[in-house]
Amino acid sequence: MPNPNEAMHHRSEQVAARAETRWAIFVIGIIALLLGMIAYTSLHFVMMPTKNVETINPSTLHLAGEFTEDNLGSAVEPDGSVTVRIVGQQYSFTPQCILVPDQTPVKFRVTSADVIHGFIIAETNVNVMLEPGYISTFDTRFRKPGMHVMPCHEFCGVGHAGMWARVKVIDKETFFKQAANERRQNCVQ
Ligand code: CUA
Repeated sequence: MPNPNEAMHHRSEQVAARAETRWAIFVIGIIALLLGMIAYTSLHFVMMPTKNVETINPSTLHLAGEFTEDNLGSAVEPDGSVTVRIVGQQYSFTPQCILVPDQTPVKFRVTSADVIHGFIIAETNVNVMLEPGYISTFDTRFRKPGMHVMPCHEFCGVGHAGMWARVKVIDKETFFKQAANERRQNCVQ
């Protein structure tokens, strides 16, 4: 006749083994799920690469092309929208004060001349990274006149905390009246 103590011991061993198996299956399940997600997102990006990648040589920004100094600031497009071109560099943005109209489609085209910077306009949905070698774009619309701060929000070196600019939103009648006389508009900080 088996010892009752031994039988009980055997039962608790079985309970422990079952619990361990359940946990092992659970953990393997999580790992399988994570690997599945990695595989899925990798395949997804391979099959559908980001369609809007624009590259630019950061070392010749000031010499030629879209981001030369006299081309920075706000420009009115033939369709009545506004394009703003900005360059970020350690430790400032050019221009320092950006002038835009309210209630008008505004497209930002921004790049970095050196390292990665952050581009965010407070109280709006504008928020992108600036990477040297790439042009970041953002489409938005400002509801009403006002002043917004535009701090760099990506640590870019010792002067990071001092790297910021302003965005001044004015009513669109005034903006377009001024734009008739100037190819590029900025404001004075
Ligand atoms: Cu530029 Cu932080």
